[in-house]
Amino acid sequence: MKTLIYAHRGASKLAPENTMPAFELARAAGADGIETDVQLTKDQVPVLIHDENLRRTTNGTGFVQDYTYAQLRLLDAGSWFSSEFSDIYIVTLDEFLRWFRDQPMFLNIELKTNVIEYKNIERIVYESLKRYHVLERTVISSFNSDSLLRMKEINPSIQTAFLTSTKMRKLPQYARSIQCEALHVKHRLLDKKLVKRCRKEKLDLRIYTVNRPSMMKKCYSLGVSGIFTDVPHQAIEYRDLFRKRRNR
Ligand code: G3P
Ligand code: MG
Repeated sequence: MKTLIYAHRGASKLAPENTMPAFELARAAGADGIETDVQLTKDQVPVLIHDENLRRTTNGTGFVQDYTYAQLRLLDAGSWFSSEFSDIYIVTLDEFLRWFRDQPMFLNIELKTNVIEYKNIERIVYESLKRYHVLERTVISSFNSDSLLRMKEINPSIQTAFLTSTKMRKLPQYARSIQCEALHVKHRLLDKKLVKRCRKEKLDLRIYTVNRPSMMKKCYSLGVSGIFTDVPHQAIEYRDLFRKRRNR
């Protein structure tokens, strides 16, 4: 089975994470999918930003949840990365989906509900995905299992993935018990046994964040379902190389 390559926060080594340039570069690189993080503004607009706090990736301060989108839209979300991105702003989920719906790619929406449990975020995100007709190629992930269960209550056919960096006994069984179709784990949790157990549970296994060639190779040779990488162009190159070698 071919391991699918998801651009983690877009092609986030080449452009500021979770911004339109990073997503467009992921598409241009030929990534199979995009992973992005969603938080809610004060006026309940889903926006794509990894941290709850604005400090690291914008010129703002304080928390996303304390600003309206109109206020956040004025922030510079690119200069922290490089001066050439000084006109880049925080994008809403809807604006992203308007672009994404025409791209032949998969989507992983990570609900950032592990620190702040944004009220209604599941319903709000679900309605956006439905509006843009992308539900079938989207998987919703979260470190918060209650959030995933709430998603399933809204629509049992939406794909969900339990996200974790913690080694836990019977992790695949746990993911199944909360109705997930997939498990997304940190790279250091990956071994043969986990791959086998996920297969047994009929769970897709995807690994984050895979930036080193040696880890890419491990993922490809174990045949995991997908990887999340900041460098999709490199991951594709290594995957092609790996497949060529294997078929020799
Ligand atoms: O969804 C995989 C990965 O993005 C989870 O961790 O902190 O990069 O959002 P983080
Ligand atoms: Mg993420």
